[in-house]
Amino acid sequence: MPKTDTTEETDTGRTLLRAEGISKGFPGVWEHLILNEIDFDVKEGEVHTLLGENGAGKTVLANILSGFYGSTAGKIYIKGEEVELNSPQDGLEHGVGMIHQEVMLAKPFTVAENVALGTDDSDFSYPLDKVEHRVDQLSENYGLEVDPTARVGDLSAGEQQRAEILKVLYHEPQVLILDEPTSLLIPQEAQQLFKVLRGMADEGFGIVFITHKMEEVMEVSDRVTVLKLGKVMGETDIEETDEEELTEMMLDEKIPIRLERKEFEEQSVSLSVEDIYVTGSRGNTQLNGVSLNLHEGEIFGVAGVSGNGQSELIEAITGLREIDNGRLIIEGKDMTDASPREIQEKGVAHMPEKRREIGVVEPMTVGENLILRDYRDPPFSRLSVLNRSAITNHAEEIIEEFDVIAPDIWKSETRILSGGNIQRMILGRESWRAPEIIIASHPTHGLDRRAVSHTWELFIDLRDRGSAILLVSEDLDEVISLSDRIAVMLEGNVVGIVDSDEADKSELGMMMTGA
Ligand SMILES: Nc1ncnc2c1ncn2[C@@H]1O[C@H](COP(=O)(O)OP(=O)(O)O)[C@@H](O)[C@H]1O
Ligand SMILES: [Mg+2]
Repeated sequence: MPKTDTTEETDTGRTLLRAEGISKGFPGVWEHLILNEIDFDVKEGEVHTLLGENGAGKTVLANILSGFYGSTAGKIYIKGEEVELNSPQDGLEHGVGMIHQEVMLAKPFTVAENVALGTDDSDFSYPLDKVEHRVDQLSENYGLEVDPTARVGDLSAGEQQRAEILKVLYHEPQVLILDEPTSLLIPQEAQQLFKVLRGMADEGFGIVFITHKMEEVMEVSDRVTVLKLGKVMGETDIEETDEEELTEMMLDEKIPIRLERKEFEEQSVSLSVEDIYVTGSRGNTQLNGVSLNLHEGEIFGVAGVSGNGQSELIEAITGLREIDNGRLIIEGKDMTDASPREIQEKGVAHMPEKRREIGVVEPMTVGENLILRDYRDPPFSRLSVLNRSAITNHAEEIIEEFDVIAPDIWKSETRILSGGNIQRMILGRESWRAPEIIIASHPTHGLDRRAVSHTWELFIDLRDRGSAILLVSEDLDEVISLSDRIAVMLEGNVVGIVDSDEADKSELGMMMTGA
């Protein structure tokens, strides 16, 4: 793909903002850079989209471009001149304003008061009626409807965002950076925002639009830069690319290999989720009628960008979250209202995403945690008498087979172990009995390569021996390598189920982003 020389004048106009070789590390995580030598620029009259998955580094880069964060290395030029942006005020003075993903306005104050608070004379001695008047003008000019005298707390999310944009526009910037501005908006509001952005670009603004949604990229951009794990994967005019190419760039081109396994024959259904509805932590509906069947001897992958209902699905299946509507059937029995304990006793093993909080009891020793599920059963307990040596041998076998590093399994508290060791403990504890059903959430997240391949082999082995495995992972390579079938979740729904030998990474990626 052709890479435009960022210093060159093009039809769109002169370069307003240019960043060169921006790198960023954070204290405590210096071992890898969050941003790695990023080049990025925005010109007069264009919408330049920054596209990338969660965690790609979009927000960090935006904060650096607008003066909220300093960079570890690299340079920023405004209209050709090198600048140092040490604060958001610096950014604004140089004509760069940022709209954050979360609304940053003070809720008890009015729109105009919030605008005044952002100015140098922020002690309220500032003539508010003048501010109100100016906000009204700006609001009219740019089609950003909002009442300057309204209390921010009384406004809808869309109105609050418009107020936030007006607050920045008050400083007459030339570059406006919007970090995932549509995440709080309903579709109609998003459409309206796109119109506003296009209008502003036509007037000569340089707009940096940040998103992880493919459909939005195609709709609003003139140019797009794809970011992945802190690196630029490519930069192109929107007319010279398509959704497929962008998806590939965003997710990584390498073709995952499917692991050898026994032929999948559809056997009996182990677990079925029937049209369930679940309320999320913030009171909103997080699952909107999800249905799926998990079969004996099958790995069923659930792919999706995080936050699209995967965690809620797992919590519903393991009894950790109430099911508002629909049914959960496990081994033929209705378990919709069952407790986590009852579900576990029905043969469901859980390898949770929150390993420390849910996976283990941190103040207990490593040995105690390893035997937590099984100590009541033979051979570890007979006629209510614990068999110490059987327990010790069992714990030591798991430690050995799963490479768990612990100073003393009967003395060391589990909390002192690293995340990787805790995950290997949980894998060992949950899998040694070859449970009928395994619910695994991000099972290899944070593990080193060796532990990842060990885990993958273990899953295939359990599957071949008849376990039904539900695998939720954000790692598409993992999902494709392991699964027999793959469901894609988007906004609380399963938007498609594909056979994984026919699954194509970019197609899955497009489903994940709603393209
Ligand atoms: N203050 C911080 N300290 C350490 N790591 C951070 C900090 N802020 C962000 N990160 C990390 O930087 C990476 C990129 O984050 P972010 O820019 O928010 O991603 P995006 O906006 O593309 O989803 C993530 O791995 C995140 O955990
Ligand atoms: Mg972000």
